[in-house]
Amino acid sequence: MTETAKLIIDGKTVELPIIIGTEGEKAIDISSLRQQTGYITMDVGFGNTGSCKSKITFMDGEKGILRYRGIPVEQLAEKATFRETAFLLLNGRLPTLDEITQFSVMLNDHSMIHEDMQVFFSSFPRGSHPMNILAAMVNALNSFYPYLQDETDINFIFTRLLSKVRTMSAMSHKISRGHKVVYPKADLSYCANFLNMMFDSPVKPYRIDNDIVKALNVFWILHADHEQNCSTSAVRVVGSGKVNLYAAISAGISALWGPLHGGANQAVIEMLTRIHEDGVSMNSIIKKAKDKNDPFRLMGFGHRVYKTYDPRAKIMKKMSDKILKKLKLDDPLLDIARQLEEVAVKDSYFVDHNLYPNVDFYSGIVLRAMGIPTDMFTEMFAIGRLPGWLAQWKESMDDPEWKIARPRQIYIGNPKTKYISINKRDLETKEAE
Ligand code: CMC
Repeated sequence: MTETAKLIIDGKTVELPIIIGTEGEKAIDISSLRQQTGYITMDVGFGNTGSCKSKITFMDGEKGILRYRGIPVEQLAEKATFRETAFLLLNGRLPTLDEITQFSVMLNDHSMIHEDMQVFFSSFPRGSHPMNILAAMVNALNSFYPYLQDETDINFIFTRLLSKVRTMSAMSHKISRGHKVVYPKADLSYCANFLNMMFDSPVKPYRIDNDIVKALNVFWILHADHEQNCSTSAVRVVGSGKVNLYAAISAGISALWGPLHGGANQAVIEMLTRIHEDGVSMNSIIKKAKDKNDPFRLMGFGHRVYKTYDPRAKIMKKMSDKILKKLKLDDPLLDIARQLEEVAVKDSYFVDHNLYPNVDFYSGIVLRAMGIPTDMFTEMFAIGRLPGWLAQWKESMDDPEWKIARPRQIYIGNPKTKYISINKRDLETKEAE
């Protein structure tokens, strides 16, 4: 028998079903509440609202747990590739040797993009933000590679998108600098191919370094999914109107761009650079972040779900040390980040508010060391998040309980008011003067 919760409202007792997840997460199903009582629930920012049941990612914000399809992200970061992780998210299980080979062949076969798209790229005004370009280009894919609703092999469409987004991102980087585009190579892995397309040039051929390739794999694995965050919810909500897949993914890219979400990786580096260049003390930055009258927030700190150290941030912190050592780079921003973390995690405000470094706090340092330009950081997050968005979109499309997303509201505007003609309004204003 289903467990229920009892709600007493207007003297009437209503029984609402309880839903329990695999890891004991509990929810009260309020879908019949309005019908039974006339009430809706209010939850601004959806901090207490489940929008779906999902088999993709499990997070425990109190314990700092993140698992994709049941596998801890720490194990994937250590042992898997991003390609394998993408397969896992999309298919619900790890691939066999044959399947991963087949997946690689498909990724290679579809890595080229329509030459006409280059013209499209070049037409963006100089200095356009890469996220602007990526969102527009992904939306435009529907015209270049029409997505047919009755196309049976959805994995083909997903693989094509995963491959083309990587090529488009590297290509837009080259075009934005007025450099010759580097085409993908069939003998390179997913991550090595991206680095080569970004950095190879006729004057200085790019040398693939396995440690850098590994670092990029880890970076993308850590960003591959994060359950119902802002951009993933955007993909699901926009997709729920049965728009084409590219439009839904483009909406996710746009949602990710904000500095409170994926744009935080760029915002962190900009903040650390300002601290470095202006010689601002750690204490004054912390004071500013705590000041209720100042909109400044410590970028790369805090999370809606994690109330402890973000498990991704732990891995990213170790990675930043390793990569800088390997490349023999001495990035002053890493020292500033370490000092800032040290002061913040001991400060009572940050302790009381459960504010810890999140994934974006150290990721910019890793990307900088790889040579990725700062304005491309959020695009790097987007490439990593793509398998998650695709898996979540597919799950929502296949969900027998799925409905078009349509929240309600409590209206607090004017009560019923009479229309007054413009002449009469004008006359009344003049008379009042
Ligand atoms: N610096 C200073 N104070 C903060 C910060 C911060 N980074 N984050 C939250 N707070 C305070 C906030 O002022 C509020 O204080 P009070 O209760 O006294 O008014 C309290 O903590 C709760 O904040 P909130 O905005 O209600 O919390 P939220 O769960 O809605 O916001 C967040 C989560 C990530 C938007 C927020 O922590 C933030 O703005 N962080 C900085 C931006 C950032 O690093 N974003 C990347 C998130 S991880 C990448 C991803 O997955 O998107």
